Amino acid sequence: MAEKTEIDDVTGVETTGHEWDGIKELNNPLPRWWLWTFYVCVIWSVLYWIVYPAWPTMTGYTKGIWGYSQRQAVKADLAAGKAAQAKFLTAIEASELDDIRGNPELMRFALAGGRTAFADNCAPCHGRGAEGTRGYPNLNDDDWLWGGSLSAIYETIRYGIRTTHDDTRLSDMPKFGADEILEPGQIKDAANFVLSLSGRPGDAASIARGKAVYADHCSTCHGEDGSGIAALGAPNLKDALWLFGSRQEDVETSIRTGRGGVMPHWDGRLDDTLIKQLTLFVHSLGGGQ
Ligand code: HEC
Ligand code: HEC
Repeated sequence: MAEKTEIDDVTGVETTGHEWDGIKELNNPLPRWWLWTFYVCVIWSVLYWIVYPAWPTMTGYTKGIWGYSQRQAVKADLAAGKAAQAKFLTAIEASELDDIRGNPELMRFALAGGRTAFADNCAPCHGRGAEGTRGYPNLNDDDWLWGGSLSAIYETIRYGIRTTHDDTRLSDMPKFGADEILEPGQIKDAANFVLSLSGRPGDAASIARGKAVYADHCSTCHGEDGSGIAALGAPNLKDALWLFGSRQEDVETSIRTGRGGVMPHWDGRLDDTLIKQLTLFVHSLGGGQ
C-alpha cells in the first residue's frame, strides 16, 4: 500500500491508496443525489423520533408527539367492527329463526358467523365440511336423527344429546345383547331383517323371524315400517345410510350394545345469538326441513 497520495495516470483522480492485485481505488466524491438522499433520510429519522414512539426508557418508551400506538389502533378497529356487528347481533337476538331466514341481509351475516363458529367448535367431530364420520352424523344430508327443522336443530345444538344438561335430548336404545333381552340368534335375525329393509338380500327364514322380533322390540322407537321417529332420535333403518356402519356385524353390534352417541350441549358455552347462527348455518347445508 502506498503511503502518500498518488494520482491515477489514466483518470487523473487521486487514489485512496488502497490496492488489490494491481487495481487501485479512486477517491471520487460521493454523487450529489446520493448525499442528498442520505441527508433527507437523517432528517426523516429525526422527525420520526419526535412524532412516533421511538426510544425505550427505564420505565417505558418515548411516546412521540402524536402518541400513536398500534395496540390502541387495533383496539379502535375492533371496537368499530363490534359496533358494525352490533346492529346485526341485536336483530338476530330479537328475531325468530324463521324471520332471520326471510331477511337476506341478516341471513348473510348469520351464515358467515355460523360458518366460522362451526369450524371452531363443531368441525373436530362433524368434519370441516360437516360430512361426518362413523358415529358422528353427516349434517349435509336430509337423514336426521332428531329432525331437520330449524327448531329441532336449534334444540339439538343448544341442549345436546345424552349430556348432563337438564334439557338434554335423551333416548337410550336398550342393550339387547349385553342386557340379555334377546338371544344371539334373535339379534342376528333382527339384523338380517333391518338390513333387508334397505334391500340387502339375506336368508328368508331368518328375515321372517327378525320381522317378528322387530315388531316386538324395535318398532316403538324405529317405527312400524322402520322409517325412524325423530322425537326419539331413532334413525331411519330403511335408507342405506348408516351412522355406525353397514356391515352385518356393525348392525348386530348396534343391537347388542346400543350406541348412545353423545353430542355436547352448547347452552352456557356459546351465547344464544351464536347458537341461532349455527342453527341457520347447519340448516342451510342442504338437509334443512
Ligand atoms: C364431541 C363431538 C361433537 C361435537 C364437538 C359436536 N357434535 Fe354434533 N353430534 C355429535 C354426535 C356423536 C351426534 C350424534 C348423537 C347420536 O348418536 O344421537 C351429533 C349430532 C348432531 C346433530 C343432530 C343430527 C341429527 O341427525 O339429528 C346436530 C344438528 C349437530 N350434532 C350439530 C353440531 C353443531 C352445530 C356443533 C358445534 C356447535 C356440534 N354438533 C358439535 C358429536 C359432536
Ligand atoms: C328406546 C328406543 C329404541 C329401541 C327400542 C330400539 N332402538 Fe335402535 N336406536 C335407537 C336410537 C336412539 C338409536 C341411535 C343411537 C345413537 O345415535 O347413538 C338407534 C340406533 C340403531 C341402529 C344403528 C343405526 C345406524 O345408522 O347405524 C340400529 C341398527 C338399530 N338401532 C336397530 C334396532 C333394533 C333392531 C331394535 C330392536 C331389537 C332397536 N334398534 C330398538 C333407539 C331405539
